[in-house]
Amino acid sequence: MTASATEIQARTLAGYAHASALRQIHDRDWVLDRVTGEPEVLLDLGSGIGQLLHEALERHPSLRLAVGLERSEHRIAEAAELLSARGDRVRLHRADLTAPPELPELPDGADVVTMTSVLHWLYPDEERTLDWISRQLAPDGVFLLTTYHPDRDAHGLGGEDDLVRDALVALGTERSAVPSVFSDGGVLPIATRTRTESELGALLERFFHVDSSLERDAVVTVESGSQYEHFHAATFGDYYARLLEPAGRAAFFTAVGESAWRRQRERGRVSEMPVRLWRLTPRR
Ligand SMILES: C[S@@+](CC[C@H](N)C(=O)[O-])C[C@H]1O[C@@H](n2cnc3c(N)ncnc32)[C@H](O)[C@@H]1O
Repeated sequence: MTASATEIQARTLAGYAHASALRQIHDRDWVLDRVTGEPEVLLDLGSGIGQLLHEALERHPSLRLAVGLERSEHRIAEAAELLSARGDRVRLHRADLTAPPELPELPDGADVVTMTSVLHWLYPDEERTLDWISRQLAPDGVFLLTTYHPDRDAHGLGGEDDLVRDALVALGTERSAVPSVFSDGGVLPIATRTRTESELGALLERFFHVDSSLERDAVVTVESGSQYEHFHAATFGDYYARLLEPAGRAAFFTAVGESAWRRQRERGRVSEMPVRLWRLTPRR
């Protein structure tokens, strides 16, 4: 059986430049608007396809080094292409942030560290990464972090989990059985991964001084089910699709798109959730 276009997209997390226009790209500008002065070194964690690094280099000619760390080889390759004209000012490393590498190119630390729409993927190992980040910052450096906070139910499901729940139900799963389908399949709900704002605030304060935090609503709207199907595949890849046998995955992606489209028609949006921007400085 041949894989559908969406299944192939999910495997390689392709199409993110287009998909991220629906939600994540807004974090890039929100964060970069808060970079002040003339930074020389910026480190972006979970740098994806390099959009934030690219925009930071455009905005700040003072940057002599922009470093990206990213786990997906496909995304690193896409970032390398986007940033190819920047030469030695850019370094991209394939790395797992839960086991972060030494960065000899930052002997004096980074003036700015950024991490947008990534922290939930590190749950429950964020502590190790936060500790490491606190050691990558220059003494007067700043860490700009965005975190998502969907509502969650008693089973810890919310946000994207809700759309996935609707899709599984449309494909024949009992609604009440969905939380155990998640746990039996080894899929931690995203709304559990994201932690609550107060829990996260307490965790961050162990490693940083919380200078300020801002909140905005991330509202996702689409013009078709297919648009959301591709957004889901580019953003979440196979994360949820692995709950299904390979033969059922194409139908699953379609069902997620259809669930989103139903919501769009009924509520005028697919989803809405608070996003927080934390401005953090070293605790020394
Ligand atoms: C939603 S995307 C955000 C990308 C980019 N920061 C943005 O705001 O558009 C999450 C990114 O984090 C990366 N990621 C997830 N877990 C990671 C890990 N353990 N180590 C490094 N990168 C990771 C993913 O591959 C993906 O590119």
